[in-house]
Amino acid sequence: MFDTIKEVTAFLKHKGITSPDTGIVLGTGLGKLVSEIEIEVAIDYADIPHFPVSTVESHKGRLIYGNLKGHKVLAMQGRFHIYEGYSLQQVTLPIRVMKMLGVKWLLLSNAAGAINKSYQKGDLMLLDDHINLLPENPLTGKNIDELGPRFPDMSCPYSPVINHKMETAAQLLNITLHKGVYAVVSGPNLETRAEYRYLGLIGADVVGMSTVPEVIIANHMGLPCAAVSVVTDLCDPDNLVPAKLEDILETAGKAEIGLIRLFNEVISKL
Ligand code: HPA
Repeated sequence: MFDTIKEVTAFLKHKGITSPDTGIVLGTGLGKLVSEIEIEVAIDYADIPHFPVSTVESHKGRLIYGNLKGHKVLAMQGRFHIYEGYSLQQVTLPIRVMKMLGVKWLLLSNAAGAINKSYQKGDLMLLDDHINLLPENPLTGKNIDELGPRFPDMSCPYSPVINHKMETAAQLLNITLHKGVYAVVSGPNLETRAEYRYLGLIGADVVGMSTVPEVIIANHMGLPCAAVSVVTDLCDPDNLVPAKLEDILETAGKAEIGLIRLFNEVISKL
């Protein structure tokens, strides 16, 4: 695995991705931030050795390197999920490569369903913590000691420094930013009413199918990270309406404007 990480890193350096400061992962229906980047290098995942390819249509599948607010950013327009059939080692390969390329901060976004009944469609939530309900772990197997410890601490998985900047930026921009707990499930089916009820009982504010594997890997490597969920559907077990991907994408598209303003402001302050 370490050889693969080094090979991909060398390939991307050779393509001109030499000094990224901030890594960005854009979730379902949330890829438009790249239109704000002055692009220097754009590579399809299909052209990167060992990279999985996004099999979900709502995910573009391109790595973008360029300038955003005076910072060098490396953005993933589209990510990988366990439900696509990839191992979590594959899902998180780009995060390990980002760190090897010199990324110092990692910002992630995702689409999520709201368990917390005070949240509305289109709201943004800053992840304060998470609950991992995935059947696998990206750190399973022999530890790569060069990257991080066998038993990484997870007492504070989201960087207080970036989270503080997120909250300050949200205030400045007059954007409602909840702070809460993200539960991750493997998908691809959405949850039953009983499952939503259970997720509420165990302390989740939102539920989604991504982000946590990347956050575990970032913590393993000591890479400070922060993540924002866009609430795309309401998961009230007593008033549940069938969730449709078109609706989820439409809501993500509308809320994306706030997310882009928030990320832009935070990146300018990193
Ligand atoms: N459940 C799981 N993942 C999701 C949801 C949901 O309700 N909405 C968006 N991603």
